[in-house]
Amino acid sequence: MTDLPTLPSGFQLGTATASYQIEGAVDVDGRGPSVWDTFCATPGKTLNGESGAVACDHYHRMPEDVALIKELGSDVYRFSIAWPRVLPTGTGTPNTAGLDFYDRLVDELVAAGVTPAVTLYHWDLPQALQDAGGWQNRDTAHRMAEYAAVVADRLGDRVGMWMPLNEPVVVTLLGHALGLHAPGLTLGFDSLPVAHHQLLAHGLSVQALRAAGASNIGIANNHVPVWPASSSPEDEAAAGLFDLIYNRLFADPLLLGAYPEGFAEAMPGPVAEDLEVIATPLDWYGVNYYCPMVVGAPGTATAASPVAGGMPTPPEIGFELRELLGRETTDFGWPIVPEALTEVLTEMAARYPALPPVWITESGCSYHDVVDPDGAVHDDRRITYHDAHLRAVLRAIDAGVDVRGYLAWSLLDNFEWAEGYRERFGLVHVDYDTLARTPKDSFAWFQRLAAGRG
Ligand code: NOJ
Repeated sequence: MTDLPTLPSGFQLGTATASYQIEGAVDVDGRGPSVWDTFCATPGKTLNGESGAVACDHYHRMPEDVALIKELGSDVYRFSIAWPRVLPTGTGTPNTAGLDFYDRLVDELVAAGVTPAVTLYHWDLPQALQDAGGWQNRDTAHRMAEYAAVVADRLGDRVGMWMPLNEPVVVTLLGHALGLHAPGLTLGFDSLPVAHHQLLAHGLSVQALRAAGASNIGIANNHVPVWPASSSPEDEAAAGLFDLIYNRLFADPLLLGAYPEGFAEAMPGPVAEDLEVIATPLDWYGVNYYCPMVVGAPGTATAASPVAGGMPTPPEIGFELRELLGRETTDFGWPIVPEALTEVLTEMAARYPALPPVWITESGCSYHDVVDPDGAVHDDRRITYHDAHLRAVLRAIDAGVDVRGYLAWSLLDNFEWAEGYRERFGLVHVDYDTLARTPKDSFAWFQRLAAGRG
């Protein structure tokens, strides 16, 4: 193994998880059902019908997991709060037992010297809110701001970083346009109000958090460089459309206070007023990065530009995802392209003069790891992945982008949504029969990286 990357002084390291992916205990202590419980119970929606009902049982093993976080020696732990634990029907009287769990988690983290970073909404919307229209209903944005205030009242004195939303583009595209994630709607372009209402929920929540005394607020947005499948005008146009929807539909309102041309007209409500709320300045901006996407015009795939198998492929709504040939992939089939992370960061800095300091709120890879007979998990490829992506971040810093930290997805192997438990992103292996945790070789590498800083 080569030398460890040399991180700038003050550069923070950490790991990230999400409630539905790790907690289990879905009907414990008054938690209400979420859209993901419903989606997983619908035949054919997730791999082998798997669900987060047990997941890593983190809800019952939280102190053991915090001990691992402490052992890792990183600065920050990003986790999400399950809205249906705090407000079982999404609104009304808070469920004290649910809040108590996060209170204990935050206390344990602080005692371990780790900064708690809270995501308020990582996709587990209370089912009762979905029954009332979910993100198609503007009220959901106001319910989210109330929920943000409840959480800030209880945890605001100890949480170091806040992000109301995680990857609203994925909720919109996979959850509401294509039906591949909860709530499983196939609205196509009619899902655009879902984007607007999430952005409004973000802005209202930022304001509610600040009003409750919380500070250091950002967002975790998925960004991908979009590369056209060829230089044909059709492929360039398809890639341009996909880039607008994937990267700019969310970042432009947040950082420029405006939708990309043509989109405002498709949004519901008093859009101009809403944009002022949405563009409430942030303290930092989080980028979740995995891989670039190659996009072509629908129905024009060729042998030189085949349709992608490793990523969910949208049907013909103006674009088609293609395979990126000639690059090594993870076991999930996602191409490994660290230099595209540098590209994302430098292009964001160039496009958005008001870009606040950036955090990599997720970066990671899935390999189908096994515990070897020697009791270890030898995941050299994950070490290589994080090493290369950290170096890509350092190149962006050298180019002038203000990046403050890097959070590995994920602490633990966990429930990878529609892909169930096959995909393993953790620095820690989880045996889903015994729930035993086994730190992988990448965990030891991350420890050395964290310890080796000045
Ligand atoms: C981003 C999502 O935030 C997270 O929930 C997911 O597990 C990872 N990507 C990997 O797909």
